[in-house]
Amino acid sequence: MQHLITPNDFTNEEIVNLFEDATIFNDLQASSVLNGKLVITLFFENSTRTRSSFEIAAKRLGAKVVNLDVSTSSSSKGETLIDTVANLNAMKPDAIIIRHRDCGLPASLVEHVDCPIINAGDGMNAHPTQSLLDLFTIINHFDGKQNGKKVAITGDIKTSRVASSNLQLLPRFGLELILVAPEHFMPLGDFRKVQFLRDVVDEVDVVMSLRTQLERHSQTYYKSLEDFGKDYCVTSDIIGSRDILIMHPGPVNRNIDISDELLADKRCKVLEQVTNGVAVRMAILKKLILQ
Ligand code: NCD
Repeated sequence: MQHLITPNDFTNEEIVNLFEDATIFNDLQASSVLNGKLVITLFFENSTRTRSSFEIAAKRLGAKVVNLDVSTSSSSKGETLIDTVANLNAMKPDAIIIRHRDCGLPASLVEHVDCPIINAGDGMNAHPTQSLLDLFTIINHFDGKQNGKKVAITGDIKTSRVASSNLQLLPRFGLELILVAPEHFMPLGDFRKVQFLRDVVDEVDVVMSLRTQLERHSQTYYKSLEDFGKDYCVTSDIIGSRDILIMHPGPVNRNIDISDELLADKRCKVLEQVTNGVAVRMAILKKLILQ
């Protein structure tokens, strides 16, 4: 049984095949390949894009979706999450999609189920479907010639699960990473690191901005987000007329992560990422449910 817990659960060849399906789904919008299948979503953390994207992806393939309302589920009556998931599994779903604040939780469920588990984000650990849709967006933009292109990831990299999955995945497809952040937002690891975007803006092809994950910080680093934005907001002033793809996984903090002006610029692909997210998740659901 194959699950998706981190991007490393798929080989490069599997990802290339997945993207072929996603390209078809992007045009097709609807199919019946998962008719009669049932998908359960369990979101213990807030979500706008990821949850609705999975639900739309499943429905576009003909599957039924049950969104468990975790605020009224038995986890609030003291049942362990493993027991909750074992009970849901006993109802014979074809996939369980889970988001939880605890790193490693989706991986720990794998041995208690008979269907694929899809990690929709576990704490700071991983967000494999976001990194796959980011990679898909980059590869499409460069028409498959992404090898050697440079991606600057900027913002609160250290506590971002999107960053952690992209740090694993993007180099596997020939992309060079440059991390742009203050010391306290910089992750460990052997990456090229700089303090400001201006230092590398002349050489990068993609800028991926990230939200400051205040909910994961145990101390205050800035007086306010506006204060952080003064140094780290990606603006038209910094990017200028350069041919740079601007990305963000959402939710965007306007004028702190990316300026209003740049969000409205045609080089900014934030909404294209969202569109691609549905197609990539359709391909993932098809692959894992029909394995
Ligand atoms: C991200 C997440 O939840 O990890 N959002 C998303 O899934 N598109 C990023 C974030 O919350 O900042």
